[in-house]
Amino acid sequence: MTQIAILGFGNIGSGVAEMLMRNAEYIQEAAGDDIFVKYVLDKRDLTGSGYEDRAVKSMQEILCDPSVSIVCEMMGGTQPAFDYSLAALKAGKSVVTSNKAVVAKHGAELLQAAKENGVHYLYEASVGGGIPILHAFDDSLKGCRIDRIDGILNGTTNYILTRMHDCGSSFEDALDEAKRLGYAEADPTADVSGADTCRKICILSALAWGKLVDSDTVYCEGITEMKEEHNAFAAACGGFLKLVATVKRSEGAPMLSVSPCVVMEENPLSSVKGVFNAVKVAAGDMGDLMFYGMGAGKFPTAGAVISDILAILRRKDDTDRYRFFENNDCAPTAYDKTKYDYCVKVTADRKALDAMPLTYTLLKEENGELYVLIEDIAKSDLYAALGGVTVSLCMRAIV
Ligand code: HSE
Repeated sequence: MTQIAILGFGNIGSGVAEMLMRNAEYIQEAAGDDIFVKYVLDKRDLTGSGYEDRAVKSMQEILCDPSVSIVCEMMGGTQPAFDYSLAALKAGKSVVTSNKAVVAKHGAELLQAAKENGVHYLYEASVGGGIPILHAFDDSLKGCRIDRIDGILNGTTNYILTRMHDCGSSFEDALDEAKRLGYAEADPTADVSGADTCRKICILSALAWGKLVDSDTVYCEGITEMKEEHNAFAAACGGFLKLVATVKRSEGAPMLSVSPCVVMEENPLSSVKGVFNAVKVAAGDMGDLMFYGMGAGKFPTAGAVISDILAILRRKDDTDRYRFFENNDCAPTAYDKTKYDYCVKVTADRKALDAMPLTYTLLKEENGELYVLIEDIAKSDLYAALGGVTVSLCMRAIV
């Protein structure tokens, strides 16, 4: 029997315990072993949870018990989650986590500690909820050159934008619903500011190219300023408003950004609604792939945690999984200098726009305003080229 400890008995932690019971038969079959929750560490009183007999308040108790081989960290926040994870790895216990804040900040150090101690540090649940995206990067895509990743990586913001678009909900009402449904972070600032998405794209980028970029250095715009006019703009351009994280391969540091975008209707990311997440990968010879599933919520995320527990039990000796290193040698390329595609609304006639030093595709002409798509251009060059006309809205486009 494999004995585990759960750190943090909130939405995800309790979901893991519940799913281990409910799916015990499948798990036994897949892992060749039963999994037993021996300890639950939480600062709250767990009376009535069914786990009161296993509740502990001190990490030391878990560290000192050699029968516990896997620690599932689902505490949220970087501390004490990081200290507890490091201590567990040093005590020879594998760690599985859903905590993207810890992975994005300390992942390289924790992976190193895992390797030195012959155990695992796995974090499938930290990106894309129930989508097995890290397993895909670590296995199936390992032999491919990854050129670009575009992701809708935050369930809360996608839920809010969908409700605003489909039902005319206000930002505040939609956020309250996302909180009630258990999608949002304890402090939803990380969701709506784009910080959560930013951490996730840094983790994906680290898996794709081996080095972790500090998420604090990445250009990141959230959805707090999004209003009905942005939805209308996206619709006029032939697309949908989404918060998209993009990373592109480059000779130097990968080029990363997070911002609200017009996702053009032809792009499959445009149909990703509600709490769903999706990751579109341009994988060289393999072509484009898209991974899709529930990006937040109790059971999809708990399921991802359990998939990592199974990965440990099935491949005990492979302690080199999900590996990346710290990126000490380069910061990501400046956003303004990186080439992206843009949807732009300008007050101009076609003659004036034709005189500008750029190539554009006309999307719509209405009331003396032009909606145009301008591809593969740095934002600074875009504004320089449009110097003579009034730009009333400009948003990154995903074509
Ligand atoms: N708050 C996160 C989201 C949870 O909404 O996507 C999953 O990481």
